[in-house]
Amino acid sequence: MKEILTAPFLAEMTHTASNMYRLGWDERNGGNISLLLEERDVSPYLELSRVLRKIPLGFQAASLAGRLFLVTGTGKYFKNVARDPEENLGLFRISQDGACAELLWGYRGGGQFTSELPAHLMSHMARLSVDPANRVVMHSHPTHTLAMNYVHELDERKITHTLWEMCTECIVVFPDGVGVLPWMLCGTNAIGEATAEKMREFRLVIWAMHGIYAAGRTLDETFGLIETVEKAAQIYMLTAHLPRRNTIQDAQLRQLAEAFGVAYRKDFLKL
Ligand code: 13P
Ligand code: ZN
Repeated sequence: MKEILTAPFLAEMTHTASNMYRLGWDERNGGNISLLLEERDVSPYLELSRVLRKIPLGFQAASLAGRLFLVTGTGKYFKNVARDPEENLGLFRISQDGACAELLWGYRGGGQFTSELPAHLMSHMARLSVDPANRVVMHSHPTHTLAMNYVHELDERKITHTLWEMCTECIVVFPDGVGVLPWMLCGTNAIGEATAEKMREFRLVIWAMHGIYAAGRTLDETFGLIETVEKAAQIYMLTAHLPRRNTIQDAQLRQLAEAFGVAYRKDFLKL
C-alpha cells in the first residue's frame, strides 16, 4: 500500500481548504467539502475491506451505495486541514443499504462527517442525475456574498442579474445563475432536501444569511464558481452605496453568452 498522505486527491483537498481559509471564507469550523472518489484512485492507498467504524447517516442515500467520499469533519477548522488531514478529514463508503457511512480512514479521535452531510450527499445525488461527471460539493461563508444578502433582494433572477453585471466574465462562469434558499435551520435533512432540489437547476445555491453551496466536476472548478460569485459580490458591496454611472447592458450579457457558447438563463435577462 502507498502512503495515503501522498495521494493526489488528499493534496488537492488540503490545498483547497487552505485556500478557502486564506481568503477568509471559512472562519472557525465554517464550511465543508465533499469529494466523490473512484475506487481505482483510492485502492492503491487503502485496504477497502477494512472498515474502522460505521456511522449512521440519518437519511437515505441508496443511489450512492458503494460510492467513496472524502469529507471534512464536523467542528473541524479549515485552517488545520493541511496540518493534520487525518484528524480533520474522513474517507468513507456509503453502505449497501444507503443508511451508513463506513469509515475507512480519518476522523481520528472519534470525529465524524460534517453536520451538513444531508445537503452534501443529497446535492451529489441531484447533480449526478443531471451531470454524471459531478464530483464535488462545497459549502462556504464568503464575506462579500454574505454581506450582499443583507442589502440585496434575495430573489434568484435579481441576484443573478446583479452578479452578472459586476464582472464581464460572470455570465460565462455561471450562465446557469445562482439559486437562493430562504433562511432555514442548517444541519438538517430539510435544508439538505431544499438544497438538492435547487441543485437540479443551479450549480450555485445561496443559503440566505448563511453562505453558499457550489457543485462541480473538480475541486478547482467548484472553488472557481464560489470565487467568481464572491468577486462579483465584493464589487457590488464596494459600489452599491455610490451613484451608478455605468453598467454592462443586457444586450452585452447576451453577446458574451453567445460568443462563449454557454447555455444561459435567458429568462434572467430583460430583453
Ligand atoms: P460543520 O463543522 O459541521 O461542517 O459545520 C460548519 C458549517 O458551516 C455549518 O453550516
Ligand atoms: Zn455553514
